[in-house]
Amino acid sequence: MVKNWTLEEKSAIVIGDSWSPPGLCIGNVNPIPSVGFPGLCLQDAPVGVRVADLVSAFPAGVTIASTFDRNLARLRGEALGAEFLGKGINIALGPGMNLARNAEGGRNWEGFGADPYLAGEVAYETIRGMQTLNKDGQGVQAVAKHYIANDEEHLRAESSSNLDDRTLHELHLHPFLKSVQAGVANVMTGYNLVNNSWAAQNSKLNNDILKGELGFQGTIMSDWAGARSGVASILGGLDMNMPGVIDWLHFDGTSYFGGNLTAAVNNGSVPLSRVTDMATRVLASWFLLGQDKNFPATNFNGWNLTDPATNSHVNVQGDHYKLIRQIAASGTVLLKNVNNALPLQKPKSLAIIGDDAFPDPNGLNFYQYRGGNNGTLAVGWGSGANDFPYLVGPFSAIVSKVKPYGTSVKSSRDNYDLTLAASLAKGQEAALVFVNSDGGETVSVVEGVEGDRNDLLLWHGGDELILAVAAVNKKTIVVVHSVGPVDMAAWIDHPNVVAVVWANLPGQESGNSCTDVLFGDYNPSGRLPYTIAKNDEDYLHATPITDLVPNPQVNYDEKLNIDYRAYLTNNKTPRFAFGFGLSYTTFSYSSLKIKESKLSSAQTTELSNYLSRKSAVGSSLLPSLHATKWSVSIKVKNTGKRTGEDVPQLYLVYPADSGEPPRVLRGFEKVKLQSGHSTTVTFNLSTYDLSIWDVVKQKWTVPTGSFTVLIATDALASPSLEGKI
Ligand code: BGC
Repeated sequence: MVKNWTLEEKSAIVIGDSWSPPGLCIGNVNPIPSVGFPGLCLQDAPVGVRVADLVSAFPAGVTIASTFDRNLARLRGEALGAEFLGKGINIALGPGMNLARNAEGGRNWEGFGADPYLAGEVAYETIRGMQTLNKDGQGVQAVAKHYIANDEEHLRAESSSNLDDRTLHELHLHPFLKSVQAGVANVMTGYNLVNNSWAAQNSKLNNDILKGELGFQGTIMSDWAGARSGVASILGGLDMNMPGVIDWLHFDGTSYFGGNLTAAVNNGSVPLSRVTDMATRVLASWFLLGQDKNFPATNFNGWNLTDPATNSHVNVQGDHYKLIRQIAASGTVLLKNVNNALPLQKPKSLAIIGDDAFPDPNGLNFYQYRGGNNGTLAVGWGSGANDFPYLVGPFSAIVSKVKPYGTSVKSSRDNYDLTLAASLAKGQEAALVFVNSDGGETVSVVEGVEGDRNDLLLWHGGDELILAVAAVNKKTIVVVHSVGPVDMAAWIDHPNVVAVVWANLPGQESGNSCTDVLFGDYNPSGRLPYTIAKNDEDYLHATPITDLVPNPQVNYDEKLNIDYRAYLTNNKTPRFAFGFGLSYTTFSYSSLKIKESKLSSAQTTELSNYLSRKSAVGSSLLPSLHATKWSVSIKVKNTGKRTGEDVPQLYLVYPADSGEPPRVLRGFEKVKLQSGHSTTVTFNLSTYDLSIWDVVKQKWTVPTGSFTVLIATDALASPSLEGKI
């Protein structure tokens, strides 16, 4: 198709139309009438269609990660894809998959937690789901973002994330590898520099690693105004410039691409073949998702939702609210539950305390980009959030639940009137305190927080509120909505704080999903996707960056030791480890068996060629490298009295001198079992799963020596079962 296009036509398909109407979306590629190309609409967000009506607000990335459930991740992706498609969007700007490297990262909640394996599995399923074709063979293009090591918000477009090759490959690249494996159509580069070269023009990352090692055939697009050059970016592997502005000060059509791209070809700075490659990639993604055949026209206007000419108000929500409720319940983590305080059983009286129990009285979408915290927290802020169609708050959901029981409910949304809170909580059968901690993207400043969190404390005096209630009520239950870990030292060991429910960021069905868990309609089965520390100094913190330095340096000195790996390596005990989560029932593990699978002779040859020859394009994705080599099976039994789900986890211990942390996650499975029932769970391990990135050979290599397989209930728990490979 591209063969007969002119240079101008090829250049036109790789640039956005600037940052304003008449384009309807947050990024728009204009139609190219001379070749009959209809243009492209690119729209946020990873939790649902942004700036549009009649759309769903899904649970955030961190919540789907907490489910540890591939099936739900796939279904969430499918539902998201269907909503974008229904609005006539070609390219959905998600999912985000940067690792929650530091505890304060403002956008950590958009991603899938702090472990590369977990993030990789969730990214894979999300993308497969989003890019599912409908009955007419059409689908939405996903975008894996932000490539790579885009882990802090403060001075995000000035700072350099500096990391070594092994850390890059084994941790931060892994979710992108899984995305390419899932067939992702696009990758968005980060605003940051990586090893002091802008991500959008980092040839090593874009040409050698993404398009080379991973064999990525789709489009690499810039983040919005994230390109810092024309020729250098284009030669460095950037295929599409979004939204087409040169920076955030010029909206006159000036761009590094466009006229400057055609000039660069005409003066010999960029070969024409490269522009052909760029245009081919954009079209390849378009064809991959069947967007060449009667793709629906964009039917909303993200710049003006009330303009009758451009908004046809198509309702794309279907029955996604059911899935949203299920995911949020499944992603809720029970952290503490003394003497079966939960589930609640037809309580005679309840107190519901805290502003986080009620939706914002000013309106659900009062704050632009959700950049405010004045009610129950169901999403963080920034381009990663969308508009709520409605938001069920915890208070109203609990009231509906207990109505048939005749429960008396007292409530206060005033976090600072501690006398009132205590007087209402006193004498009630149980007191529920709802608290939160927010964070987001640098686009808004919320109560002095510019994006990255200033600290890990609860907002609005949450600690004092919990303590005031716990002082008078022996059955104080704390529910936390949060973008990331919080400091719980003030109240976690209080004897009257008998239960703690970690509800993450649940989306529009917040109250219902929380009520399902509180009352036992849903057995809690969420697991922490990051570690919560005892002491603030045990976290890896965001790098303190002074605004006075031109390019602040963020050094990934921890190398492979982020999150739970650091606690293992440094022999520190966290408060709640990655993978931790309680249940209303109990499970036992037994009968560990390890079976080596024979690779086919073609696979064996492919693998030995990989190891002995110079790497070819796409070699990190060779099927033989990812084929099952060892199958580890265990028996899981529900030994308790209720039906419920469990998440057995497989951790791998590498041979001692391989330089790996003491153990790393390499398998998990969510299984649902009735009381007394058991099932066999199988974890498949590939050669890649047992490899390290050998920086000398520039290959995935299995270190020599014996491996230990551990089955455990969290990253630091003593293993329930052990075996050798
Ligand atoms: C964000 C991206 C987003 C883009 C378009 C940028 O500021 O970093 O994640 O997709 O804006 O809204």
